[in-house]
Amino acid sequence: MTHRGPIALDGPVASGKTTVGQGVAQTLGWTFIDTGLFYRAVGLLALRANLEEWSNEVVARLAQQSEIATDDTRITIDGEDVSDVIGSPDVAAAASRVAVLSDVRRVLVSMQRKMAEQADGRVVMVGRDIGTVVLWDAPVKIYLDASAEARAQRRHAEALERGDESDYGRVLSDLQERDRRDSERTDSPLKPADDAHVLITDSLTPQQVIENVLKLAELPS
Ligand code: DC
Repeated sequence: MTHRGPIALDGPVASGKTTVGQGVAQTLGWTFIDTGLFYRAVGLLALRANLEEWSNEVVARLAQQSEIATDDTRITIDGEDVSDVIGSPDVAAAASRVAVLSDVRRVLVSMQRKMAEQADGRVVMVGRDIGTVVLWDAPVKIYLDASAEARAQRRHAEALERGDESDYGRVLSDLQERDRRDSERTDSPLKPADDAHVLITDSLTPQQVIENVLKLAELPS
């Protein structure tokens, strides 16, 4: 079975993008790119730089001057593997702050497009603006969604499973705050592309969503 690519996969926090994107990429033997890691890396750079003000120019320069590379779920900045530190709530909040800065987005979008070109279209790219901006001409666009409560419950359960402390109410309010910032920003707000297939995942298992996406990407015979 042949599939069309690239596949652009967008959706809000904890909508299942990473699990589904990885599953689809693995099945097809394609490259998986999680663009959220880039924004987290730049958020970490901004935190470490102890900036007085997170201005467009200064944060974009930080991003431009650094070598950001990713391989599946790992990410490095100038060769340092920061994958294990960027999962923290502080870095998540910082990522969402740098994601509103247009110059930062321009730098990161350009890196992401280069990576998709290198994969020659055999790529599953996940994020918030993949179908609308980064790969706006992708032949397959999927937007995953689920209620805020279902998504917060997933994040909460994941944290407990890792043995981390977690408070459901806090997880839900953080998630709602990030949703608000992601969808209300003026540059590339989170929204489904006009030609995206919207999949509501509340009552679907990750495997069912993966199968749905594979079906949508199948080339008609
Ligand atoms: O998917 P994530 O939680 O790792 O993303 C971190 C932040 O980066 C989140 O606030 C949204 C933002 N982001 C974005 O604006 N555009 C993308 N393509 C990916 C992530």
